[in-house]
Amino acid sequence: MPAIDSLTNHQVRLAARPVGLPTRANWDFTTEAVPEPTSGGVLVRTLFLSLDPAMRGWMNDAKSYIAPVGVGEVMRAGGIGVVVASKNPAFAAGDTVSAGLGVQEYCLIPEAELKRNGIFKIDPRLGSLTQWLNVLGMPGMTGYFGLMDVGQPKAGDTVVVSGAAGAVGQTVGQLAKIHGCRAVGIAGGPAKCEWVVNELGFDACIDYKSGSVRDGLKAHCPNGVDIYFDNVGGDILDHVLARINRKARIIICGAISQYNNTAPVQGPKNYLSLLVNRARMEGIVVFDYADRYPVAVAEMAAYLKDGRMKSKEDVAYGMDTFPEALLKLFNGENFGKLVLQVAD
Ligand SMILES: NC(=O)c1ccc[n+]([C@@H]2O[C@H](COP(=O)([O-])OP(=O)(O)OC[C@H]3O[C@@H](n4cnc5c(N)ncnc54)[C@H](OP(=O)(O)O)[C@@H]3O)[C@@H](O)[C@H]2O)c1
Repeated sequence: MPAIDSLTNHQVRLAARPVGLPTRANWDFTTEAVPEPTSGGVLVRTLFLSLDPAMRGWMNDAKSYIAPVGVGEVMRAGGIGVVVASKNPAFAAGDTVSAGLGVQEYCLIPEAELKRNGIFKIDPRLGSLTQWLNVLGMPGMTGYFGLMDVGQPKAGDTVVVSGAAGAVGQTVGQLAKIHGCRAVGIAGGPAKCEWVVNELGFDACIDYKSGSVRDGLKAHCPNGVDIYFDNVGGDILDHVLARINRKARIIICGAISQYNNTAPVQGPKNYLSLLVNRARMEGIVVFDYADRYPVAVAEMAAYLKDGRMKSKEDVAYGMDTFPEALLKLFNGENFGKLVLQVAD
């Protein structure tokens, strides 16, 4: 490892807030010297970054569950990295960590920021580094707590999940099967639908790009829908609402079909189905469950080990590809959890 003061940190900063889909013009590529950590701080070298649909929301100047990224700031991103220098007894050079690293090669986390940053040491024996950004990481925790805490599945329930071949969706459908439910996915294209059924063991998957979701739900949910895990919003949410059962649970996890809209967000038209069916629709923000991640990680790692849980990650390479790689989430080009490899 060369001396820290000889290193350069390549970074991606938000240059301007996008209207609609982000373009290269929304990003600045900058460099700066890599600082030494001061007392209590940690310096991390980025290996993998998590590319998430939520990044689009963080680019907007709008009130949300977290402050927007400021224009000129390094783009926010979670990731996996290696500690290169530490002035904190809890971390040593060579430790592999999960942290809020930002889209940059090196991240200095001062002592006062450690808690807010959420940095923690990972155990590479429980899963690969990319699995730590997928089923063992933030999307896996979202699927786990969204389904188990908010959805409260019972054996025999029919669980429908959109974005089924994505990071959160793959976890939700597999957990539903583990808990004795019927799992029906909704995804774009035959390759994703086949993988979800043949590899992950879902009972069925509806290709929303080539057929009618309404007809698909009718065919594959003959007893109605008890739980809908919504990752996409829009028309698909309305189609599922039309088929829910009494006391159904709708988990509002995300609405990716709406994130790049220049028109106002499309809300559900069929919401009176909640009234008729005495059903519940509830949002989830994964960070609310941070205290319980270790328990869920242990459970998911056990499923990975015994083969009941599979995972798929889609790896893009190089920080200079970040603007185009991010767009894969919005045009459905990612197949599995999208990560960006920044270094070996
Ligand atoms: N609430 C929370 O705490 C939390 C945490 C993590 C993620 N989320 C949300 O969970 C959802 C899934 O996130 P993820 O990380 O797992 O992403 P992902 O599913 O791995 O990737 C996004 C997928 O969304 C689908 N998609 C894109 N545009 C669409 C559209 N117009 N209609 C229908 N599907 C569309 C695409 O799949 P197809 O090819 O199948 O179209 C794409 O591959 C997002 O809404 C995200 O914001 C929420």
